[in-house]
Amino acid sequence: MEAESVKNRNTYIQFLLNDELLTIDFEQDKRLSPTTTVLNYVRDRAHYKGVKEGCAEGDCGACTLVIAELGADQDLHYKTITSCIVFLPYLNGKQLFTVEYLADKQKGETQLHPVQEALVKTNGSQCGYCTPGFVMSMFNLYKNIENPEREDVEQALSGNLCRCTGYQSILDAAYLFKDLPKEDKFFRLKEKIIQDLSTITSTARSFYIERADEVYFQPQTLEEALKYKKENPQSILVGGASDLALLKTKKHQQLPHLLDLSQVLELKEIVKKEDYWEIGATVSLEQLRTSFENEFPSFRKMLDVFGSQQIRNMATLGGNLGSGSPIGDTLPVLMAHQAELLIESADEKRTEKLEDYLLGYRKTSLMPNEIITKVLLPSDDGQIMWSQKVSKRRDLDISTVSAGFSLKLTKEQKVQSIILAFGGMAAITNRAYQTEEFLLGKAWERSVIEEAMQILSDEFRPLSDARAEAEGRKLLAKNLLMKFFQETR
Ligand SMILES: Cc1cc2nc3c(=O)[nH]c(=O)nc-3n(C[C@H](O)[C@H](O)[C@H](O)COP(=O)(O)OP(=O)(O)OC[C@H]3O[C@@H](n4cnc5c(N)ncnc54)[C@H](O)[C@@H]3O)c2cc1C
Ligand code: FES
Ligand code: FES
Repeated sequence: MEAESVKNRNTYIQFLLNDELLTIDFEQDKRLSPTTTVLNYVRDRAHYKGVKEGCAEGDCGACTLVIAELGADQDLHYKTITSCIVFLPYLNGKQLFTVEYLADKQKGETQLHPVQEALVKTNGSQCGYCTPGFVMSMFNLYKNIENPEREDVEQALSGNLCRCTGYQSILDAAYLFKDLPKEDKFFRLKEKIIQDLSTITSTARSFYIERADEVYFQPQTLEEALKYKKENPQSILVGGASDLALLKTKKHQQLPHLLDLSQVLELKEIVKKEDYWEIGATVSLEQLRTSFENEFPSFRKMLDVFGSQQIRNMATLGGNLGSGSPIGDTLPVLMAHQAELLIESADEKRTEKLEDYLLGYRKTSLMPNEIITKVLLPSDDGQIMWSQKVSKRRDLDISTVSAGFSLKLTKEQKVQSIILAFGGMAAITNRAYQTEEFLLGKAWERSVIEEAMQILSDEFRPLSDARAEAEGRKLLAKNLLMKFFQETR
């Protein structure tokens, strides 16, 4: 690393822990590592034992905390995170709320936060281990949606497990929201927080720390990121770390060299162009879900059952593509939409179809000096778009088989174009090319679909694993095609 570029980088991060401005200088504080999780950091502090560890892999919600960050609109945006799989630099420039801070303590009096009051009223806690996590998810819902509908409540609590109270009394507390006071203490403090965060972010510089066994770089601009990747092709990209962090928390692996894209503003935008959308690689899946309600309903349907709200708040589109998993849930939908990836290095840019990007099991065409910077998603052009995820439970489960289909019919109800993309059927997300070819030009009717189902069954050689036998997967794929037909005829 040249001395000149290091001079312009901080070795510290700054954030608000509740209302306290904290600076962690990793050069000074050798006990902490940039891959220390937020959960471990918070729990190691005196008086912050509310947040709990249940699974250390993002599955139970006991470690849920809330983050507020300044948006481009200069307003505060609240979101939940599962703090067990979030690395400390993610907090840079943000405010982190813990359950200890929710109650209003003034003049020696303690007033529980309205969501805590609601939970008490409906007896929504028994042993209490999960309760701080539920409280934080409910607080986040309260800050984001004034009168939540049932679906909003279910989404907000989709990442929190309780093993003893039973969910009804917890859900009942959330349904009381419409009767709760609309202003909590955070309304009073809002302007000050916005000012504090503006001060931190306006003076922010890239964060860089080099230790004997680990290097962590968090640039502020895409230019810096691309230059760094060119000079350090061995560095591993970090989007939301919802895949990567598990290597540390569950497999206890060292992550020796990380390039964290989470602060690069150019990668966080969704821009509508004339006939396509440009989605930045670090756009979170929850941001995408809420943006695509009307525009891409089949994409939205898949995102509704992607992980939990906490996971979607952290997970990025670039990370889902970067992991190249055969059961990455955005991939079949993107393939059906004929999405292209914009891949950049310091020296050139290229666009690539998803089909060409995926080369083998978790193997992609990405070169060590390259970064996926955008996804180019064509606007629908009169096709019928459809998606479905099959998993053992609806929320917080990975796919057994997933599907993203696109269909255009002629006036005579014949197949003009069709894409049948599947996850979980092969080492990569792939299209059923032979079935597509068979269907092209044929009438969209049951007898034809039944023939196509046989071709589809012979086209893939899926694996057997704990989720399903190979034959079960083939049956699922065939039934998905029939379901698609029944919903589109
Ligand atoms: C509890 C839990 C539930 C989950 N549920 C689902 C689910 O339902 N469906 C599903 O598909 N996945 C699921 N996942 C997996 C994970 O959340 C997703 O794959 C997510 O999209 C990863 O995004 P990320 O930003 O967190 O990636 P990271 O963990 O930051 O990175 C993942 C990989 O992508 C690479 N990468 C990151 N950004 C880029 C980029 N811009 N260009 C190139 N490569 C890049 C990284 O180097 C790494 O190899 C789940 C994970 C957890 C922990
Ligand atoms: S400890 Fe279970 S989600 Fe974090
Ligand atoms: S109250 Fe015991 S796990 Fe939820």
